[in-house]
Amino acid sequence: MLVLGIESSCDETAAAVVRDGVKILSNQIASQVDIHARYGGVVPEVASRQHLLSSVPVLEKCLADASLELDDIDAIAVTSGPGLAGSLLVGVNFAKALAMATGKPLIGVNHLEGHIYANWLAGELPQFPVMALIVSGGHTDLVYMKGHADYQIIGRTRDDAAGEAFDKAARLLNLGYPGGPAVDKAARLGKPGLKLPRAVIRGSHDFSFSGLKTALYRLVETGQVTSPNDAAASFQEAVVKVLVSKTIAAADEYGVNQILLAGGVAANSRLRERMREESPIPVLIPPLPLCTDNAAVIASCGYFHLIRGERSGLDLNVYPSMPFVSTA
Ligand code: KG4
Ligand code: ZN
Repeated sequence: MLVLGIESSCDETAAAVVRDGVKILSNQIASQVDIHARYGGVVPEVASRQHLLSSVPVLEKCLADASLELDDIDAIAVTSGPGLAGSLLVGVNFAKALAMATGKPLIGVNHLEGHIYANWLAGELPQFPVMALIVSGGHTDLVYMKGHADYQIIGRTRDDAAGEAFDKAARLLNLGYPGGPAVDKAARLGKPGLKLPRAVIRGSHDFSFSGLKTALYRLVETGQVTSPNDAAASFQEAVVKVLVSKTIAAADEYGVNQILLAGGVAANSRLRERMREESPIPVLIPPLPLCTDNAAVIASCGYFHLIRGERSGLDLNVYPSMPFVSTA
């Protein structure tokens, strides 16, 4: 089955074709990062206008790259939430128009669930049960998965998401935009010598990053940060240490076969390194372009819903605050 994926939840306009949920035939992304960089963050109105301009060219490029016609596609999967309302609306309406014109089935996909499916596109397939750590700009979730569409959210952040923490640290340290990759790069040039708290909530799999951000703010305000690179390395080390230790503890407690990393922060070089080094349980880590926002993961996730007989109607709507909830 060939599934066309459409993703437009934030600032990337993306289209991909994936065969049977696991084989990428084409994965195209039009990034808006340069447009938003001058504002230091994503401007929602600018993002949705840019999605409108990019949707058709990205789809055309995707089909040409896969040597396919629109009629060759068997179904269409689209991110319907969570994300920016205006951005989601462009993608969802585009997908609905394509479904209506071709008569092909449509499926709305939760963006966070989609992120996990990067792990089905990287070669070695996950073997259930698994523990997935989703770390993105808006979410930090630990998800126990016994099968497709079988989710138990066992931990999440109580305040800032890991990606949000990286972005705020980059702003505090004037490292540039986008923040996560900027901290990652600066940290490689620094030493993690600054003392920062490790936010460990005992007796829970939940995370908390706001105290760490406040601690860094105080150090900057009181002039104790002399090297932004050292501060970046210290901050990154503090975030990564908590993510790695809590994920391994949860994976051990639930007796899973593998740990899966997912979401934009899974692109962080130190997180990838420490997770591989420290986990006694095998870890699957998708290649960088599959960690950050893309449509291949949406097509893959959509496929696993479609083969269960699930469909969305042409009345599919966007759900900007769509939660990722336990199904088990
Ligand atoms: O999953 P994603 O691309 O979009 C959302 O769904 O939010 O994640 C974006 C987040 C941003 O906060 C970005 O700063 C962070 O992922 N990120 C990173 C790295 N690359 C992206 N954080 C740390 N290190 C990186 N290399
Ligand atoms: Zn994302």
